[in-house]
Order: sequence, then structure tokens, then C-alpha cells
Amino acid sequence: MLREDLFKNLTAHCKEYGFIFPSSELYDGLAAVYDYGQNGVELKLNIRQYWWEAMTRLHQNIVGLDSAIFMHPKIWEASGHLSAFNDPLIDNKDSKKRYRADVLVEDWIAKQEEKLEKEVGKAAKRFGEAFDRAQFVHTNARALELQQSIDSTRTRLANLLTGNDLAGLKQLIEELEIVCPISGTRNWTDVRQFNLMFATRLGSVSEEANEIYLRPETAQGIFVNFLNVQKTGRMRIPFGIAQVGKAFRNEIVARQFTFRMREFEQMEMQYFVAPGSEMEWFEYWKEARLQWHLALGLGQENYRYHPHDKLAHYANAAVDIEFNFPFGFKEVEGIHSRTDFDLSNHARVSGRKVQYFDADRNESYTPYVVETSIGLDRTILMVLSACYDEEHLASDDGKEDIRKVLHLPPALAPVKVAILPLVRKDGMPERAEAILHDLRLRTACHYEEKDTVGKRYRRQDAIGTPYCVTVDTQTLEDGTVTLRERDSMQQQRIPAERIYEAIAPTTELNSLLKKL
Ligand code: GAP
Repeated sequence: MLREDLFKNLTAHCKEYGFIFPSSELYDGLAAVYDYGQNGVELKLNIRQYWWEAMTRLHQNIVGLDSAIFMHPKIWEASGHLSAFNDPLIDNKDSKKRYRADVLVEDWIAKQEEKLEKEVGKAAKRFGEAFDRAQFVHTNARALELQQSIDSTRTRLANLLTGNDLAGLKQLIEELEIVCPISGTRNWTDVRQFNLMFATRLGSVSEEANEIYLRPETAQGIFVNFLNVQKTGRMRIPFGIAQVGKAFRNEIVARQFTFRMREFEQMEMQYFVAPGSEMEWFEYWKEARLQWHLALGLGQENYRYHPHDKLAHYANAAVDIEFNFPFGFKEVEGIHSRTDFDLSNHARVSGRKVQYFDADRNESYTPYVVETSIGLDRTILMVLSACYDEEHLASDDGKEDIRKVLHLPPALAPVKVAILPLVRKDGMPERAEAILHDLRLRTACHYEEKDTVGKRYRRQDAIGTPYCVTVDTQTLEDGTVTLRERDSMQQQRIPAERIYEAIAPTTELNSLLKKL
């Protein structure tokens, strides 16, 4: 199946099985805002907990925080978000559609890359095993031309963005002959900067002084609490503060389902280090965060690092961890070396001293910061798109049988075990309920007795439940149940008292944490 089709089916699946709904659907929805349903919210909790425990339980020098979404407006002046948290926008005068100018160029680059891959694919077929990709791209005239235009356009875009050269950006769009996908014309406006923060008003007086912003990142709540946590927790550098919470951005190009949302959740950790040691810690966290992803078992080949061409206004080094989404490799997490930018600016704008006394060095300084920042919603989309599968099974009557299954890492599954009486009589429901009462104190269970057991298995497969327990006549005789495993569909008979012991090694969160 084509990846685009698979993604379309996944989006429909998320709604059909209570993972993700468009927000305000009764009113035709609200663009780029989504709600999590009964299964989505459990998956979200599990991923959040995996991140939280990996940060705080596994690191004695990382503590948590839950700061407010509303913050003093001066914070955004100090952080640079008021002046620099912008996207360059361009409008097409014929379709009246608005685009991010940099995204138009990136899409153009992606098309060139597709063309290059086609050339490479054709040559690989022609040359067979002897094919050397690097040699081909360096020697074939067409491939070389494509590669050079990709590289030079990418460099030029990065320079224009870094230099905030909006006229140059428009010129590049014109030179590349990029057309509006709606009108097909090249009738563009000038490029303008657009601030992504949502403004609102505090209290009832509508004066400018009361204008505040919904936070566009959770990180600033950590910076402004640096001294509170350091002093009350008697923290010694290096140490980290972790936080999970909502962030808001008025994204212009909001697309690809929950990949780019206007209201989303971030899981961020700021690691405070001594000046001069930041690059060492940057490398450490780059590795550690990739390990966290790899422990999920979604395939090493689906991840790659992408160093930033254009650094955010606060960073001196940055790398993304990219995942192979159905629409290509895209950022799921950023690791940034933020220098002392934020703490120094908060000290400057607030007029307070924000420093740390290092007893080992016998000096005070403004700590440097290495940040890890991952989108919770984007991680959910990553997990769902890697795990969604439509299996074509052989059926007895020769008809096509498609099993929709989510191969979720068991520890993340919303339901760990479904308890199913084979039929609704002969004391089976009562026995199954007794098992549920015992198991639900230890793990997430779901009891279901409607429909045939085959249909119930399929419903559990569709929400990613790793195990199903069936209570049948034999259970009433000898106390054993069948335990069915989701991916292999294999069944085994085990004593009812041993269900938890059988499923715990894969369903407990520790099964993931152990790998870190
Ligand atoms: N504090 C640093 C920071 O916010 P970022 O690269 O802008 O850095 C970090 O965002 C992560 O937040 C991204 O890697 C992504 O997973 C998530 N994220 C950012 N914007 C998002 C959006 N509009 N919708 C969903 N997730 C988003």
C-alpha cells in the first residue's frame, strides 16, 4: 500500500477507535486542533510517563516542575520571542492563499530530491550489485546537476533565514519559479515576518499593558524558576529540570494531522552546566535521547540526526532527531545548546541576579544550558504511524481478510490485557470478572463479553492490546485460561493466577526503562 494511503487510513483509524478526534467536530472542527479520545489519552499518559521516568527516576540530578501557562509578558521580551519568534510569510495574490516562504523553498528542494532518487533508483536497477550510489551521484551529469542545485539552494535558504533577508527570500522563490499550488501562478506578495505567539488579555481592562501571551514553549517556565529549584532543592551543577505541558503557536502551515498543531504538548528538559562544558553535554544528550527512542523498538533505520542549518535565536548548536513519518523524515525532537542566553536575558530584563555559586570552582557564573525538547503529540503520531498495519490474512472461505492491528510497544498500549468470557453463560462471565477484579489492581485491563470472541480479538488488535485472556469451559474445570498474543496471534494455556507474571515482562514500563 502507498504510504499516503496508509497515512489516510491511519487518520481514519485514530478516529474510529477513539484515539484522536478533530476538535469541536460538532461545529465542523477547528483547524490544527485535536482532542484525544478514550484510547488516545491512555497512550498519551503512557508516553508521557515513559519520558518522565526516564528523565527524573533514572537521573538523580534531574527534578520536575509544573509551571503556569500564563507568565509575565516581560518574559517573552527577555527570551527574544517577541522580536524573533517569527515565520516568514508570503501570499499568492490570485488564490489569496498564505504560505511560509521557507516551506515553499523546502518543498521545492524535496521535489528535487525525489527526482534525484528516481535517477538513483533507475541506475541501481541497471547496474545491479555493482552499483555505487556516491560514485553515480558524482559522475552522472543529471544526478550531479540535481545534487548541486539541492545543496546550493539549501545553503542559500539557510543564509537568507539567518540574515533575515526577506527580499532575498522572495527573489529565491521567483528564481526557482515556484508556483502557488492552488492558482498555479507566480503572482507573489513581498515576504513579511509573522509572530507565532497567541496574545490574550489578563483581567477586564483592555489596555496594552495587560496583554499577555500563551507560552510558545514550556522552557521559559523552567528558566524563570531556575533559582527557586536550585536553592530549595540544593541542586549542584550539572543538574536538570524537566517539565511537560501545553504550548501554543499560531502556525500558518498547519498540516499532516497532529504533526503541526496550534495547541500541543511539549516534554522539555533544561540541563544547567558549567560554561565551557556545554558541547560535551550536548553530545551526551544527543546520544541519550536517541537511545530513548530506540528502546521503543520502532526500527533504528527510521531515525536520523539532522543538524540545524539555521539556528534558533538562542542556540549555538542544535540537532534534530528525525523520524521516518509516512510523509518522510521529519523532526520529532530537538536538542539545543542554548548557551547562557535565557538566564542572562532574564537577569538583564528583571534586574535580578540569576547566578550560581560553584563551590568547586569557587566562583559565581551564569550557567549554560543544554535543552532536550520533544513534542508529545508528535511522538504519539510517530508511534501510531510506525505501528499501524493492515495484514492480509488467509481466510477459510477464500475471502479477503484484513486484520487492522496496532503493533504498539506493549508498555505503551492503552489496554494491556483484555479479559473475555467465551460465552455469556455457564458462569464464564462471573469467572472472568473475578480475574478482572484481581488483575485491574496491577495493570490496565478491559472486560468485554459482546460478540464472538474472534470479533473481540480484532477490536483489541485495532487498539493495540498486546494480550487477550479467554475464559472457557476448561477454566471452570481446571482454572486455566488461554492467553493470546497480539502480534503472533499464538495462544497458550496458563493458570489464571499466572496471567500477570506472563504479561508483566513486556507490559510494564520498566521493560522500556531497563534498556536505557
Ligand atoms: N524549547 C525549544 C523548542 O520549543 P522547537 O524545535 O520549536 O523547540 C520542540 O520544538 C518540539 O516541539 C519539536 O521537535 C516538536 O516535536 C514539537 N513541536 C513544535 N511545534 C509543534 C507544533 N506546532 N505541533 C506539534 N508539535 C510541535
